[in-house]
Amino acid sequence: MVASKKTPAKASAPKAKKEKVVLAYSGGLDTSVDIRWLQDNYNVDVVAVAINVGQPPSSDDIVARALRNGAIRAEFFDAKGEFVTDYIWPALKGNAMYQNVYPLSTAVARPLITKKLVEIAKEEGATYIAHGCTAKGNDQVRFDVGITSQNPDLKIIAPMREWITTREEEIEYAKKNGIEIIVKKSSPYSRDENLWGNSCECGVLEDPWAEPPAGVWAYTVDPEKAPAKPTYIEIGFEKGVPVSLDGKKMGGVELITALNDIAGKNGVGRIDHIEDRLVGIKSRETYECPAAITLITAHKELEALTLPKDTIEFKRIVEQRFSQLIYDGLWFGGLCESLIKFIDSTQEYVTGTVKVKLYRGTATVVGRTSPYSLYDTGLSTYAKGDSFNHKSAEGFIYCWGLPGMTLNKAHAEPVKKKACCKKAAPKKK
Ligand code: ARG
Repeated sequence: MVASKKTPAKASAPKAKKEKVVLAYSGGLDTSVDIRWLQDNYNVDVVAVAINVGQPPSSDDIVARALRNGAIRAEFFDAKGEFVTDYIWPALKGNAMYQNVYPLSTAVARPLITKKLVEIAKEEGATYIAHGCTAKGNDQVRFDVGITSQNPDLKIIAPMREWITTREEEIEYAKKNGIEIIVKKSSPYSRDENLWGNSCECGVLEDPWAEPPAGVWAYTVDPEKAPAKPTYIEIGFEKGVPVSLDGKKMGGVELITALNDIAGKNGVGRIDHIEDRLVGIKSRETYECPAAITLITAHKELEALTLPKDTIEFKRIVEQRFSQLIYDGLWFGGLCESLIKFIDSTQEYVTGTVKVKLYRGTATVVGRTSPYSLYDTGLSTYAKGDSFNHKSAEGFIYCWGLPGMTLNKAHAEPVKKKACCKKAAPKKK
């Protein structure tokens, strides 16, 4: 339910305990001024909650600053581990990509963030959850729907949807109200960053004809300037989940961080996308997802080695729907949860090692091995050791081609074959 500013429940009772709002807080300009804006416009106490999913750290203690700016409680949660195990890994097992190009880095973090906000709202007995999303994006949908589908009693406040303002006006509001903000050098771009990737929009990117200028890319080396020699890496998977890099066992956060670095240095993971937003708008966005692109490429190849053909074909259909559900903010409840279970059930034998060559913007699988490999050299070889039953081919091909032969005959000789269907000659008048 979207909250109404005019009727904050019970807000007008004198001396009554104020209602609470849990604010998804980043420490940036918008959510810093939101603390005060919420107090002014909704007469509420603000609990500011920052959730770390791998975005770059702020230059100051954002929790302390939220308290100085009037929050009654401020918390910082490091949710990187949970982000990886409960959101990134399911997305990877499902090779999740929106419109076949965007690994859903922003989208897949939203369910986790809403889960945390809903938990804190319960702990605090809060009436509202507030977030800093605007009216034109997908994220407002993901927040609102994610929150209400976990707790339909919570009401949403989206200051940036109600209070259509400019950066300058916000800075002015902060000055007037004594709000402490860190004003970074103004950037023409809007970014969202986490472990699974970084997205960038606005500025010159709004012109779909304009090549993204160098300043857009913050996490990857220009492929033209990447090392002239390729880097080879070996990624070990267990049941669809990456567990080692170059033979070294690693936790998920560590592995993704290392891969973002290695693949990023080789210029891997740059994406330039004309994207169809859920709200009907086409937008141009760039992404940098070195680890995600490398891991999805490797994971798909391990599936090619270990899954039967029909499972792969059916799973690719499921993956598309799964990706769409993540993009559309429908992680919780219903179909998405069932698809995750199906996808999980396909991963039992997706175990093995994939060798990837990182070279000037490309991540190419050049080797794969698995204890459960379905690749049988005896069957595939043209050299010595052939175990294929050559005699079986002819009979198989006869049966395989039989429907085609039958059809051809039927169409070539319709009269003879279908005498019973002959039309009676029209009666003379
Ligand atoms: N378009 C992407 C999505 O909806 C990313 C949006 C992230 N926001 C940004 N400021 N770049 O998932």
